[in-house]
Amino acid sequence: MKRRNFLKKATVSGLSIVAVNSLLSCDTVANPAKQSIVPIKTAIIPIVIATWRVSNATAKAWEVLQDNGSSLDAVEQGCRLEEADVSNQSVGKGGLPDRDGNVTLDACIMNKEGNYGAVTSVQNITHVVSLARKVMEETPHVILTGNGAEKFAYEQGFEKENLLTDNAKKAWEIWKETAQYKPIINIENHDTIGMLAIDKKGDIAGACTTSGLSYKMAGRVGDSAIIGSGLFIDNEVGGATATGMGEEVLKTVASFLIVELMRQGKSPQEACEAAVKRVVKGSGERYKDFQVGFIALNKAGETGSYCIHEWFNYQIATENKNKNYKSNYYNKA
Ligand code: GLY
Repeated sequence: MKRRNFLKKATVSGLSIVAVNSLLSCDTVANPAKQSIVPIKTAIIPIVIATWRVSNATAKAWEVLQDNGSSLDAVEQGCRLEEADVSNQSVGKGGLPDRDGNVTLDACIMNKEGNYGAVTSVQNITHVVSLARKVMEETPHVILTGNGAEKFAYEQGFEKENLLTDNAKKAWEIWKETAQYKPIINIENHDTIGMLAIDKKGDIAGACTTSGLSYKMAGRVGDSAIIGSGLFIDNEVGGATATGMGEEVLKTVASFLIVELMRQGKSPQEACEAAVKRVVKGSGERYKDFQVGFIALNKAGETGSYCIHEWFNYQIATENKNKNYKSNYYNKA
């Protein structure tokens, strides 16, 4: 739960250079005071932003950018760091398994030319973000899945690894005791890492990596590897990426929506808020049971972020304000 602190922390290090560690937290439900959004409105390049507090990952990406590396290398290296961190139970090795006890990973990457590579339902390979990059650069395809993706990984020299750690196995066994083999939908079981960066040349790239919804049905694929949903980049406009309930992000093709809204003139913040509203609108009352959040970056280096629970808290705050206003009004009358 530590990562769930909603942070909007920008580390400014002179020369107008900013590395941004972001974002979204379900902790906003418990502590609305933490939810304040401070979108960066000034042009800052290079820059890297990520969903959730993954400061080691953004620091790694930042190092690449500072060494004149490309935004593509930066997001790949940043995501790899998180994939190798076994304490993170929603990404890479150590991720929570599906309901049959198998850890299956999804990832994608997109470059400044609009090229894209992705893998879904991959077992036994930790660095699926790099595998997605190999799909983009070494094959005529854009998505490889399951056994085919794994076979391709070995051909490319990736190592076979057991991704199910003792901790994740224990958590799964506890889940099985009460879950009646049903995948659960709640705000606690998916914290995808999405990362967006602009390098010193001003080019943008993005990547997304996840073990998906924990205890999902075998074969379930979320938004994170699907172009336009979990991630979208347009080097003329900017990029967006998502975290949270993949089914809802898929239904709204939300990262593409955010980039198109920015193309039409919305700021990254306005575009993220519009996308959250679209998700809420499409979900009826169900939005109370899941979390979805977005981050966005435009070509000028402006950022935005928004999640459903911020929207929800905002509605409550507005309702209370109206109630107070009305009661003051009636008291006066
Ligand atoms: N956003 C990750 C997933 O739903 O799989």
